[in-house]
Amino acid sequence: MSVRNRIEVMHGVNLDQLGRRDRAHYGDLTFDRLELQIADAGKALGLVVRFFHTNAEHEFVQHLHRLDGLADGIVLNPGAWTHYSWAIRDALELAALPAVEVHLSDVDAREDFRKVSVVRDLCIATIKGRGAEGYRDALALLAEELG
Ligand code: DQA
Repeated sequence: MSVRNRIEVMHGVNLDQLGRRDRAHYGDLTFDRLELQIADAGKALGLVVRFFHTNAEHEFVQHLHRLDGLADGIVLNPGAWTHYSWAIRDALELAALPAVEVHLSDVDAREDFRKVSVVRDLCIATIKGRGAEGYRDALALLAEELG
């Protein structure tokens, strides 16, 4: 069987504004630096990592539709969509790939609306509150899963 090592790292709404967002929750890493760190972590694990970001919900959905045959696993941080986008949930289900949900901040220790995730039960794990390190953990989990 061929190697399954292609991971799509998908960022949703407002994540591109990292560096300008509340540092108490998100630290001072810019989005570009975050993606560079994730790319390094992926390389170290022998993964081929591709990145996708959008602020438009329908583009996030469409990207999930188009992953068939192009990715073996997904790391997703949908930002605020996490808490209410049934459309993204349905598209993630359709993608039918092992996925890990990541949040930079500890969503369960913040406002009540952030404690709800409509994608959580579709994911093999949720990693929250570990900043950029959380993505390394997510990639390591997927590397193990795809073994
Ligand atoms: C976030 C948490 C969400 O509640 C928030 O809307 C974000 C970022 C995180 O990474 O901690 O935009 O997903």
